Amino acid sequence: MTGIITSGEKRLVVVSGRAHPQLAQDVAIELGTQVLSSTAYDFSNGETYVRFNESVRGCDVFVVQSHGDRVNDWLMEQLIMVDALKRASAKRITVVAPFYPYSRQDKKHLGREPISARLVADLYKTAGADRLMCVDLHTSQIQGFFDGPLDHLFAIPVLAEYIKSRVENPENVTVVSPDTGRVRVAEHWATLLGGAPLAFVHKTRDINVPNQAVSKTLVGEIEGRSCVLIDDMIDAGGTIAGAVNVLKEKGAKEVIIAATHPVFSGPAVERLSGCGASEVV
Ligand code: R5P
Repeated sequence: MTGIITSGEKRLVVVSGRAHPQLAQDVAIELGTQVLSSTAYDFSNGETYVRFNESVRGCDVFVVQSHGDRVNDWLMEQLIMVDALKRASAKRITVVAPFYPYSRQDKKHLGREPISARLVADLYKTAGADRLMCVDLHTSQIQGFFDGPLDHLFAIPVLAEYIKSRVENPENVTVVSPDTGRVRVAEHWATLLGGAPLAFVHKTRDINVPNQAVSKTLVGEIEGRSCVLIDDMIDAGGTIAGAVNVLKEKGAKEVIIAATHPVFSGPAVERLSGCGASEVV
């Protein structure tokens, strides 16, 4: 049977949504299997249809989906996949969502706002997910939104290893958070980079205008230093490009950007190419 490893009682199956099938294929190759064959299409009104072309009864299924662009479509497709697997008697269903959808909306800033990241966790649970697997969540507390195990994997050590090989003088590196929300993560980075000093940029947003951040002041010493500017995601690039501007104005020698989830929507590429950073990792 394609896509299924049989070893004793364990039967592992990898299935993929349509957002980025290459990722699931690469994962399946690492596991020595193939992605299970499925049929998926959209009706003309936008509804999604999914069917798995082989039995999944009793299987341990990993549902791989990416949520970079068209997040609502891909989230809905993944929920429908989970529902189909549940109704087909899969034994255990793990949602693999490297970039957790709606992770930025993890708290209320104002009255009458939603906590959409919590809603997403509830949707996964209701659809039938037993377990979630994600990479570099926007904030760690999202782990507690899902009523079940959530494997929070970290890409930061991989990025940090690259940065170490890239900078000429590790003594001259400062880790910079582009906003106050990422200072904890910046501390983790600083440890991985051998105790590098920290700085952060103070950023404000107009809550009525999406994807427009204004980076204002800098806290920390960066003059003449190599700055590693870190973030969990780069969406339209406003936050990170604004922070690079501030760092350059304050006399940074160079700025290397490192982020886990490169969404690169709208003007992101233009902003990143013109912001003066020496590299985007
Ligand atoms: C904000 O809290 C996030 O960590 C990112 O800094 C932000 O969402 C990136 O969005 P954009 O690239 O559109 O500024």
